[in-house]
Amino acid sequence: MKLWGGRFTKSAEEWVDAFGASIHFDKNLVEEDIQGSLAHVKMLGKCGILQEEEVEKITNGLNVILKKAQNDELEFSVHNEDIHLNVEKFLIDEIGPVGGKLHTGRSRNDQVATDMHLYLRNQIKEILDGVKGLQQALLTQANQHVETLIPGYTHLQRAQPVSFAHHLMAYFWMLERDYGRYEDSLKRVNISPLGAGALAGTTFPIDRHYSAELLGFDGIYENSLDAVSDRDFIIEFLSASSMLMMHLSRLCEEIILWSSQEFNFVEMDDTFATGSSIMPQKKNPDMAELIRGKTGRVYGSLFSLLTILKGLPLAYNKDMQEDKEGMFDTVETVKGSLKIFAGMIETMTVKTENMEKATNSDFSNATELADYLASKGMPFREAHEVVGKLVLHCIQKGIFLLDLPFADYKEASELFEENIYDVLQPKTVVARRNSAGGTGFEQVKKALEIAEQKINEKKL
Ligand code: ARG
Repeated sequence: MKLWGGRFTKSAEEWVDAFGASIHFDKNLVEEDIQGSLAHVKMLGKCGILQEEEVEKITNGLNVILKKAQNDELEFSVHNEDIHLNVEKFLIDEIGPVGGKLHTGRSRNDQVATDMHLYLRNQIKEILDGVKGLQQALLTQANQHVETLIPGYTHLQRAQPVSFAHHLMAYFWMLERDYGRYEDSLKRVNISPLGAGALAGTTFPIDRHYSAELLGFDGIYENSLDAVSDRDFIIEFLSASSMLMMHLSRLCEEIILWSSQEFNFVEMDDTFATGSSIMPQKKNPDMAELIRGKTGRVYGSLFSLLTILKGLPLAYNKDMQEDKEGMFDTVETVKGSLKIFAGMIETMTVKTENMEKATNSDFSNATELADYLASKGMPFREAHEVVGKLVLHCIQKGIFLLDLPFADYKEASELFEENIYDVLQPKTVVARRNSAGGTGFEQVKKALEIAEQKINEKKL
C-alpha cells in the first residue's frame, strides 16, 4: 500500500512507479530531509500540536535513521517513490504508527524545497572554499612570476608583452566575482519554505519562524505559493556555476594552447596529463580539456531548469522533480573542477625562457615606439603611421625593431634618439605600463597585495 493510497482502487504498476520515482537521485538529500524533519517535529511539540512523548519517539526514530544513512545502511525502495516517503516509511517501521504524525502541518512540497535549500547552503559553502583555493593557487604562481614576461595577445596575435603574473591574476579577479555571486546567492538560498504546506499554509498553529531558526535559516518565505514554487535559488546557483565554468574553460583553453609545441610556455605536471595509447611521444593536457568540456553540462543544467520552469502554473508541479539531477551534477562538476584546477596551477612548470624568447621575437614593442614619438610631440596618429612603415620595413628585411640600424630610425623621424634601443626592450615596455591596473611591475606588485588581502578577508 502506498502512503497516499487511500483514494486509489488499484495498486500501481511497477514500471510506471519506476518512471515516476526520484529516489535513485534524491536519496542524496537524505540527511537534509531528516534534518528538516527533526526541526519540524520539534516545532510541532513546541506549538502543542504533538505530545512531548510523541515528539521524543519521532525524534529518536529519525536519529536512528540518520545514523543508518550515515553508515550507508538504508535500503531505499522505488515503491516509496522519493526520499521523503522512504524516510517516512522507515520511521513508521521503526517506531510504529506514531511515525505517521510527523507529516502533520507539512507537505512534500515544502519539504522538498526545504531539503534543497539546506543542501545548496552546504554545497555553496564548499564551493566557496574551492574558489578560494584556486585563487590562492593562482596568487602563489603569480608571486613567482612578476618579472616573467609573456606575449599578450588580442585576436590571438601578439599585441604587447605583459607580466605573466598579471595574466594569471586576470583569472583571480574573475574568480573574485564568482565568489561574490555565490556568496550573494546564499542570501536567497538561506530562506525557509518549511511550513508553507502543499501551497496554502496549514490550519495547525505552527511556528514557521521557530523551525526556520532551528535550521539556521535567516528568514522565511513570505508567501506560501511562492515558497513551494520557487526554484530561482537553484537557477541562480546554476547561473553562477555556468559563469565560473566559463572562466575556468577560458583558462583551460590558454593552458592547452600554452602546452602545445607551438607555444611551449608551460608543461602540466604528470599527475594532470595523460599519454596516448598509440603515440608514445604524447603528453596531453587532458584535465584542462575535460574541464573545458564539462562546462557544457553545467550550461545544459542551467538551460534545462530554465526551460522546465518557464511554462509552469503555480504551485508545485511534478515537472519540478526534474530540478535535482542537474543541480547534483553541477555541484560535483564544479567542486571537482576547482580542485583539479588548483592542483594543475600549483604544479605546472612555467617555461620562463620560452616566454621571454617569444617576447623578444615579435613586434609587440611597436606601440612603445609610437608612444615614444607621441611623447615627443608628434600626433599619435602620425606616429602610428611612421612606426607602421618601420614595422613593414623590418618584415621585408626579416628583422625586428631592435635590430634596425639607427640610421633607418633617423630617416623615418628626426625625433628618434639613441635611447630607443633601451625603450624597446620588452622589460622596459612592460615596466612602463604603470597606469592603475596595468602590467607595470609596480602595479602588479600592488595588485598582488590587494589580492592577498581579498583572500584573507574571506570569512567562509
Ligand atoms: N519527489 C518530489 C520532487 O522531487 C517531491 C515532491 C512531491 N510532491 C508532490 N506533490 N508529488 O519534486
